[in-house]
Amino acid sequence: MCGIVGIIGKSAKEVVLDGLANLEYRGYDSAGIYLNDLKGRGYLTKATGRIKNLRAKMTQDEDGLVGIGHTRWATHGKPTVANAHPQFDETNRFYMVHNGVIENYQELKAKYLSDVNFQSDTDTEVIVQLISKVVNDKKVDTFTALKMVLAEVKGSYAILLVDNTIPDHIFIAKNKSPLMLGLGKDFNVIASDALSVLDQTKTFIDLADGQVGDITKANYVLENLAGEKIQAKPYEVNIDPNAASKDTYEFYMLKEICEQPSVLRHLAQYYLDEEGKPKVDQEIVDALIRADRLYIFAAGTSYHAGLVGKVLFEKFANIPTEVGLASEAGYHFPMMSKKPLFIFLSQSGETADSRVVLQEAIKRNIPTLTLTNVLGSTLAREASYSMSLEAGPEIAVASTKAYTAQVVVEAILAKAMGERTGDDAAKNFALKENLALAAEGVEQVIFSKEKIEQLAKEYLVLSRNAFYIGRGIDYPLALEAALKLKEVSYIQTEGFAAAELKHGTISLIEKNTPVIGLINDPITADLMRGNIEEVVSRGASVITIASKKLAKPEDDIILPDIDYYLTPLVSVVAAQLFAYYASKAKGLDVDKPRNLAKSVTVE
Ligand code: F6R
Repeated sequence: MCGIVGIIGKSAKEVVLDGLANLEYRGYDSAGIYLNDLKGRGYLTKATGRIKNLRAKMTQDEDGLVGIGHTRWATHGKPTVANAHPQFDETNRFYMVHNGVIENYQELKAKYLSDVNFQSDTDTEVIVQLISKVVNDKKVDTFTALKMVLAEVKGSYAILLVDNTIPDHIFIAKNKSPLMLGLGKDFNVIASDALSVLDQTKTFIDLADGQVGDITKANYVLENLAGEKIQAKPYEVNIDPNAASKDTYEFYMLKEICEQPSVLRHLAQYYLDEEGKPKVDQEIVDALIRADRLYIFAAGTSYHAGLVGKVLFEKFANIPTEVGLASEAGYHFPMMSKKPLFIFLSQSGETADSRVVLQEAIKRNIPTLTLTNVLGSTLAREASYSMSLEAGPEIAVASTKAYTAQVVVEAILAKAMGERTGDDAAKNFALKENLALAAEGVEQVIFSKEKIEQLAKEYLVLSRNAFYIGRGIDYPLALEAALKLKEVSYIQTEGFAAAELKHGTISLIEKNTPVIGLINDPITADLMRGNIEEVVSRGASVITIASKKLAKPEDDIILPDIDYYLTPLVSVVAAQLFAYYASKAKGLDVDKPRNLAKSVTVE
């Protein structure tokens, strides 16, 4: 989603452009930069498409000691140069970049700005025009005007603002969209993601909602909207910048798929002791055990990991578990049990849809636990408890290793709960051994990637649509596999409970429709074979992915045997590779599928 980078006190152009390039993975459709050299010269450049288009539009001598830049993922108005940020006011004095959505921008525009000539369709321009108006009409300074305007704004924002009459300041503000201040020696940086400026500093302050700041090269002042000063404690970020590099891989997605064996082994070490007993914060286990029902909320791939989590919690922790789409639950809150506990699954920890549910849970005093890959993220900070997914930075828009990490952490929690309550299934669940087997299994799948590439080319690339079908634990896996394939290859794919096809959807099967059958569930394996026959006899081109003990010699991909409940950890990797190779063979930008963003901070 949109990205922000700003710097003050240092040659700004390259820092901003490189910082924006580091955020490219989040998905965007236009970009822009404003630089001021503090000698009266300002440079505004905006371009549609990639950062390289923006760079190409800039001349060599354009630089500044202050710079703010933005990658935009269109919400209000098309991805055009006029709608790209920075947005500016009528007098060309104020320049602003903004992530988020201003919900009442139409009202503000109608109420205060009917005489203003707008250049864009954006909600952001309304804010910058309004700040300009307040400064002129009320004769207040820019920082005061920013606070006055934001007091009337409803919505989410991370904002950087430069006033070119005092360009040695960057004014900042945050509400519901991430923003952090990075502290340097005689310079300061501001970014929506620390990853973008790790080459500048490792010392950061995360702004909280409702905070504003006045940043100069050697100083910073943070306040709330009422003007009260805020003391914030800087912390050190210890992410290895190399972890975010592409290495020798052509795309991040393949790199991240191939990192999964290490993620599985690392999680086993991190969360299990020598004997395989979970090492989980006792407070978290206590809170989980106190609940009479678990409710998992998430979006997209994380939601699919939640569906697997339901099976794990019900089997090993013996607790009823509901899984909900955060975007639906936020405004249609489900009926609760007496002692619910909410679990939020989120790679980014910033998903706005999940945050709405979290806020509602906080209001209702429901205990909450966030499982996320970004520990300082909003969902981690605001929940009662949080746990790290330990997957390392995930850059490709399509989530891969975060999904496997989510499933593993859910399995660990389920075992921890079940062991505490004396559940036999949990005690006998050989998680450590199975994670080792899963890591080896994933390696074997990765080893057979040429075969998957060849099958993807033969069956998928020329097709407009496809199906994944499965039963039991393969059903949530089919949903995830289908999402992966459609999002990166643009092949319309549906994930189906195999037996449901005959209740309607089988009418879509025609000659050569690709159907990928997942066969990991021993209870329904024979029925699953029958469901595959049904589509074969209607002309489908079938690819089968089966666990070794259920496999037949003619199956296409045979997976090593591991505990049934953990089979998604291995079979998902085959699905990820099918998606990757289908996308690559179609010549698409695998890491940045069209219209998508990595961290979805709008509802
Ligand atoms: C798909 C994908 C998305 C995310 C979803 C939730 O590959 O990445 O479906 O899973 O947007 O994001 P997080 O997990 O960051 O809350």
